[in-house]
Amino acid sequence: MKKIFLHILICMCLIPIVSAATETDVEDNVSTKYSPALQRLYVAMQAGPHEIETTAPTGELRGWGFEGFDGLLYKFFEKREFVTEQPYALLEYACGTGRWSANAVLQAEMDGVSLNVKTFDPFMQPEHAEYYNQAWSRYVLDNGSSHGSLLVSQGWLKDAQLAATDKFNGMLVRDAIHLFSDEQVVELFQLGAALTDENGSIVVRGTPPFATMLWSPKVQIFLITQGLTPPNFGEILFNESNYKAYTEMAAQNIPGVIGQMNTKSVCLPAIRNAAEANGWWLQAIQVGTTVMTHKKPLTEEELYTFVSTQVQKYKPKPEEFNLDYVPEDPGIILRFKKTPSARPTETE
Ligand SMILES: C[S@@+](CC[C@H](N)C(=O)[O-])C[C@H]1O[C@@H](n2cnc3c(N)ncnc32)[C@H](O)[C@@H]1O
Repeated sequence: MKKIFLHILICMCLIPIVSAATETDVEDNVSTKYSPALQRLYVAMQAGPHEIETTAPTGELRGWGFEGFDGLLYKFFEKREFVTEQPYALLEYACGTGRWSANAVLQAEMDGVSLNVKTFDPFMQPEHAEYYNQAWSRYVLDNGSSHGSLLVSQGWLKDAQLAATDKFNGMLVRDAIHLFSDEQVVELFQLGAALTDENGSIVVRGTPPFATMLWSPKVQIFLITQGLTPPNFGEILFNESNYKAYTEMAAQNIPGVIGQMNTKSVCLPAIRNAAEANGWWLQAIQVGTTVMTHKKPLTEEELYTFVSTQVQKYKPKPEEFNLDYVPEDPGIILRFKKTPSARPTETE
């Protein structure tokens, strides 16, 4: 029961902060450098929808959409994935509105990179697909040509498989895997293997860790006044059984979206283990701006040590620890490569 109160508080504090912390990394000034068509596309993509209804009409959970463009994730792709002269084919799954991919294609277009993106979301709101697809088609028409392509659509991963004519270079799941069931996490890696080419990647950007919320003075005061002991960082993110017990208990006791979301949460080792069991290995992990790469699969212990060490960096300094303090939640990016054929070609 104690943990349930804490979880409500953490979730309630987290949601507005996640939105506020999302970065905008697209250049502010595109005025003279780019064609009028590209300038119009820039405006359309910035103005495009980011919010989603938290539940679909059929009752499935969508969660919350995040404002801004996740430039760190784009840079991750730029540095590790868009490294050949060849066009890059990306499949984004559980894309929400499709906004990240739409802005990634815009950014690639500004950089002269050929990025071809297909996005799918099983619970997509049709108006979102319509908005971004129209903005892109208008650009292609106005511009006469384009480096890349964008197709935002409604569908499950198996629909993506049925629709695929060629293999993708990489797949992305951003801020959505916590809503997958364990079976759907496995399916991601199984279908992902068939959908991607020999040197393919699956990039998962995890929901920001809850751990830093525990450093919020408001949370601390709540805990003290309730006589509660805060769960530790490992318990929330890494210890599967405790974490599941914790979320299941919360789900039973909290009505509404937050309670329902708890039934679906998966933790980091569960994702890594599903990948390992289905022909993938964890090659890189990024927390905030710090990346760790490996030539052999990162073990669960390495994952734990790295993530917890990095998250500690976000701990407030004593002078920052006042009621105005807003915890900063770093995103976690996991990059999986195929086993074993990808291994010898890795040079990082
Ligand atoms: C928080 S939103 C994130 C959307 C987008 N990836 C982003 O970063 O803006 C989570 C998305 O996951 C989708 N989703 C929920 N449950 C899912 C499931 N079981 N399988 C695939 N997608 C799911 C929702 O429809 C929603 O669009």
